[in-house]
Amino acid sequence: MKERLQNLLNEADELITGACDEKALSEARTRILGRKGELTSILRSLKDLPADERSAVGQLANRIKADLEARFDKAEAALNERIERQKLASEFVDVTLPGRRFIPGRTHILNRVANELIEVFNGLGFQLAEGPEVELDYYNFEALNIPRDHPARDMQDTFYFSENVVLRTHTSPVQIRTMEKQKPPVRVICPGKVYRRDADITHSPMFMQIEGLWVDKGVSFADLKGVLTAFVHVYFGEQVGLRFRPSFFPFTEPSAEVDIQCVICGGTGCRTCSQTGWLEILGSGMVDPELYSFVNYDPEIYTGYAFGLGIERVAMLKYGIPDIRAFYENDMRFLTQF
Ligand code: PHE
Repeated sequence: MKERLQNLLNEADELITGACDEKALSEARTRILGRKGELTSILRSLKDLPADERSAVGQLANRIKADLEARFDKAEAALNERIERQKLASEFVDVTLPGRRFIPGRTHILNRVANELIEVFNGLGFQLAEGPEVELDYYNFEALNIPRDHPARDMQDTFYFSENVVLRTHTSPVQIRTMEKQKPPVRVICPGKVYRRDADITHSPMFMQIEGLWVDKGVSFADLKGVLTAFVHVYFGEQVGLRFRPSFFPFTEPSAEVDIQCVICGGTGCRTCSQTGWLEILGSGMVDPELYSFVNYDPEIYTGYAFGLGIERVAMLKYGIPDIRAFYENDMRFLTQF
């Protein structure tokens, strides 16, 4: 009997050491101390012992029972503590770590410049108008007085979807779309993306323009000069000079390109302006009366002017950006400077 009790202690020790989780430990406890366990059967058989042994063995059995219970309690406590420690370790939060910063989005520099330009021209009486980027040949060329076989088409190397559908090469088709929809007076500003097969440090296959159109009774070249001069002075500064250079566009007559004094060197000549002191920023002119026949305006009553301005060009000059590709590379170091 004493030996059975001693074996029980050994067995319990083995089971406890081997139990790696709560379930194994509670199974071991049932096996040793449970109602159908070894100890219970020993305690039950006490009554069969001779009376003189019964008391001593009974005492021993009870001590061992208490001992076993204590060992299981201790093992359980140790296991629980280990589980708790593991849980704490896995849920550990280092409150001294620096926080994760959310960088708020911002308006792209080109959209910002476009918005600034729209604001200036709004102040001069122009309203916003828009047109599609996928455009009919008719609006991009034909109705702008550029027939199919006209050599002026070479000025704009075009992406064609089909014979009659192109990616617009300029914002000028919005002139026709706007005049088709409304009678004079027309005073609109039309920003948007345009596309040409062209790519180097000052040309991108996709770029942005802003078109201006003003048609009414008695509009003259003097109005064109006045508005564009006001624009240059508001946007680039009073001290910046500008000049109108005779040019040619099939949809304006007469036509002029506008140069501003180089904002980098102030007009003395540098690399940016190829030592000329001047930088071209836009094309313009009086709306060719030929266009009015496409939109049913009477050229005897109405005159107007139009201009088209490159937004990248303006942004590069305003913010001193040397390479047009920086606008499209989405490099945060560049974009977050503005
Ligand atoms: N559409 C012309 C271009 O992209 C610019 C322009 C617009 C010229 C309006 C005159 C009048 O080159």
